[in-house]
This record gives sequence, structure tokens and C-alpha cells, in this order.
Amino acid sequence: MSPVIEVDEVAKGYDLPGGGRLTAVDRVSLSIATGETYALVGESGCGKSTLARMAAMLTSLDAGEVRWSGQPVSQLRRAGLRAVRDHTQVVFQDPAAALSSRLTVAEAVAEPLRIQGRTGSRPVADLLDAVGLDRSMGRRYPRELSGGQRQRVVVARALALDPKLLVLDEPVASLDVSVQAQVLNLLSDLQAERGLAYLLIAHDLAVVSSVADRIGVMYLGQIVEEGPADEVVARPRHPYTQMLIASVPAFTPGERVARPAVLGDPPSPAERRTGCAFASRCPAATDLCRETEPVRRLLDGVAVRCHHADGGAPSSREVPGTLAR
Ligand SMILES: Nc1ncnc2c1ncn2[C@@H]1O[C@H](COP(=O)(O)OP(=O)(O)O)[C@@H](O)[C@H]1O
Ligand SMILES: [Mg+2]
Repeated sequence: MSPVIEVDEVAKGYDLPGGGRLTAVDRVSLSIATGETYALVGESGCGKSTLARMAAMLTSLDAGEVRWSGQPVSQLRRAGLRAVRDHTQVVFQDPAAALSSRLTVAEAVAEPLRIQGRTGSRPVADLLDAVGLDRSMGRRYPRELSGGQRQRVVVARALALDPKLLVLDEPVASLDVSVQAQVLNLLSDLQAERGLAYLLIAHDLAVVSSVADRIGVMYLGQIVEEGPADEVVARPRHPYTQMLIASVPAFTPGERVARPAVLGDPPSPAERRTGCAFASRCPAATDLCRETEPVRRLLDGVAVRCHHADGGAPSSREVPGTLAR
């Protein structure tokens, strides 16, 4: 399947108030195909939302390129850009913040259509059906809904313009655990019905592992491991992924050797560093790790940025054209 979106070596930094610059996203590449869920996981502050905003064209890139159906977005003209924006919709963590308190549910869902000059009650009723909300909910205001219902409204509004890609930035993080699975199941059903591509972001690997096709693990602005979801969960190759998985009780069956949960805090992304970004927290770090940045290598279909991921000497099997400085 050809990719809907390709993010190619994108980077983004922010100026620090006291001078200097923080690298939030450091040369990241990924692509997502029609009907595919790419889950991006990593601790808070690792750059997930910045990457999401670049993919959704809500913020500029310092470097790199985003391609839409193979076309560089930077080369699109106004009409093309508008089409890509309509086809890329974003769902954020907090549905209360995303919805205006002054609009009814029906008005909120109809808003993107109204802006395009399309009206009528039929599409709104269909969209409420699609997200499992009773049509009578259309007359309510956001404050009269539960968190889960509000997030369904946000999803209905995101579907109004028939998108091809949904960027879901921690879409269930603000919801009760009992509601999280319902909303994730809804998203899965909608994807199957509509062939949507998802960039699904979470700080919690357990939340996304069951719905993801592929998983990218992000650490300090870089994707340190990426591969098929089953494979990444069953055989994490990067020590950071191993720590993330060990910290989820449900993922730690009795037979697996106990591993420490994630140790300490990540260093500030503003800090200058040499070598591997994870070396300061890695139980397996060697002098090589502290001195030389690992390149991205492919190990049985899984891309890993770790000198020791294959358990031995650094490999020379670099992925061409990516990430080598
Ligand atoms: N608008 C901004 N101005 C300055 N720094 C920012 C801004 N947005 C994010 N950052 C910083 O960039 C890094 C990545 O943030 P973010 O992309 O929000 O990570 P995540 O979504 O994984 O928590 C953090 O160190 C954060 O403090
Ligand atoms: Mg975020």
C-alpha cells in the first residue's frame, strides 16, 4: 500500500528564553499507509506533539520534508494545500478544550462543513451515528456530556470533511480507564470502515499496543526503535523500549526476566550531548555509546538506533540515506 503521508528527516527546535536552542524533534522519518495505525510512544517531552504538529502542517519545519501521496507539501499551491489540510484532521488530548462551550454538539460537528459552505442536517446525523452518539445529543452543549462523549464529538467533527489521515495526539489520555478502550475501539472500527491512516500518539505503550500496526518509540526527539507492533512488544531490541515494556505489568509475563522500570528522568533536550541520547540512563551503555551516536540499523525488519541492539559489536548495516550525521 502506498503511503498517505511520509515524514522525511524532519527537525524542529525552539529558542530558549535564556538563549540557545532546544531540539524537540531531531531528523525523524516515518510513513503511514491507508488503513494503517502508526503508534508513536515515548515519555512526556520527547517531541511527540511537535512531530504531530509538523505532520498535520500546524507548524513549520526547520528541516526535512513532508510528502502527501508522494507529493512534497512544500511544493503544493493554495488549492492543493487546502485539500491536504482537509484530509488531515487532528484530535487532541483534551476534548473540553477542543470544543467551544457556546456551540451545541450539532453545531460543532457541522462547523467544518459550514465553513466550506455545505449545510444540512443529514451529514451531522450520519456523523453522530458513526461515532455511536444518539442523534438527540446534537442539541446538547459540551458541558452536558461526559469526557468520552465529548471526545466522540471531536472525532465526529474530525470526520466531517472525509479525511484520509487522523493525527490522534494522546486521544484517550484525559479519559477514565474504563472509557479509554471504548474510544480506541471506536477509532478501530472507523478506520476499518473508512480506510483511514492513523498517527496515534501515546505516552503509554500499553494503551496503543493492541490497536497499532507499527510502533515507533521516541526518545529525546529521535525514533530509537520502529517496527511491526507485535514484534516490538514481543522482542524489544532497544534498551529504552525494553524499559518501557517492563514498566507495564501486563506485558511482563512470568517467564520473562525481570527488567527495571524506566530509571530516572530523561536529560533536558536543551543539553548538548555526544554519543547516544539514551546513554545516561542505559544499563548497557559502554564508552562507545557515550562517544558515538548510533545510526539507525535494520535488524530483521525492525529499525533500531543502538550500538548493542544485536547483542554484539556495532554493525555496519546502516540504512542508506538516513540519520547518519
Ligand atoms: N512552543 C514551544 N516553545 C518552546 N519549547 C517547546 C514548545 N513546544 C514544545 N516545546 C519543548 O519541546 C520538547 C518536546 O515537546 P512536545 O513535542 O510537546 O513533547 P511530547 O508531546 O512528547 O510531550 C519539550 O522539551 C518541550 O518543553
Ligand atoms: Mg504531547
